[in-house]
Amino acid sequence: MKALVNIDIPEIKKIYSGKVRDLYPVDDEHMLIVSTDRVSAFDHIFPNGIPGKGIILNTISTIWFKNINFIKNHIVEDNFSNFPAPYCNYPEFFKDRSVIVRKTKRIDYECVARGYIIGGGWKEYRETGSVSGISLKPGLKMAEKLPEIIFTPATKADVGHDINISIDVMKKDIGEKDAEFLRLMTSKVYEFGRDSLLGAGIILADTKLEFGYINNEIILIDEVLTPDSSRFWDSSLYKTGVSPVSYDKQFIRDYLDNTPWDKNSPPPPLPVEIVSKTAEKYGEIMNKIQEMF
Ligand SMILES: Nc1ncnc2c1ncn2[C@@H]1O[C@H](COP(=O)(O)OP(=O)(O)O)[C@@H](O)[C@H]1O
Ligand SMILES: [Mg+2]
Repeated sequence: MKALVNIDIPEIKKIYSGKVRDLYPVDDEHMLIVSTDRVSAFDHIFPNGIPGKGIILNTISTIWFKNINFIKNHIVEDNFSNFPAPYCNYPEFFKDRSVIVRKTKRIDYECVARGYIIGGGWKEYRETGSVSGISLKPGLKMAEKLPEIIFTPATKADVGHDINISIDVMKKDIGEKDAEFLRLMTSKVYEFGRDSLLGAGIILADTKLEFGYINNEIILIDEVLTPDSSRFWDSSLYKTGVSPVSYDKQFIRDYLDNTPWDKNSPPPPLPVEIVSKTAEKYGEIMNKIQEMF
């Protein structure tokens, strides 16, 4: 299988191309989101993709969207055979990797819930003793479980890196009620994922969500509990003080930390072993999630 990194159909004009997903028009209220095989890390897109990754992400997200019933989500159609023209004429681009969704007015924050301290959160904690304005007890080790789930939102920068902010910044922007709603829903989605994965031997370390408005109602959008947006650790191998064995993008980040690439210039292609190992890890977590529901 070849990686689908670029979709170019002269007949159809994209609305937007994100790092991983492309958006296509449907009608005033709907659009199509296709998950390509592009891979990004440290906010850079790699020249080569991971074959099948978009299908895996779309499959995983759709399962969670269908099973999370305490908040509405954007999906209206996930079955390619029901897609309207012209999309149904292009199975090579859209089949198994696309959904038709409600267009929302996106809330420009990444809503992150963390149950463990790792990654950007760990870095900020080591430097400042807190994450997104929440101070944590001293002496935590890398990957340690936090005494309670913390909400650590970040700005959603169109270009450049996301920056962690405190919930107070969010409250000033979108109002106290909506910010509190996002905190609550982010925690609930994290808890739902964490509890569902427990039996499969997976620790959900953290997850990142996006929300949008339809009129005044907030719904869940984008992707949910995927290995691009979350950290999935093998619970049988979990220990603190080291970067845990994971079924997510951490494998690529750890690899990149040991290359000369400076994370500020166009990245080199990922080597074939990293591509195939990542595809394997993503496939394994998809299988586990499919077996759960
Ligand atoms: N239902 C929706 N309404 C509006 N915007 C959405 C919706 N679902 C996803 N999006 C946006 O579509 C884009 C998906 O592309 P993606 O590759 O995930 O972007 P990014 O580079 O921001 O990670 C993101 O900008 C996301 O915020
Ligand atoms: Mg995204």
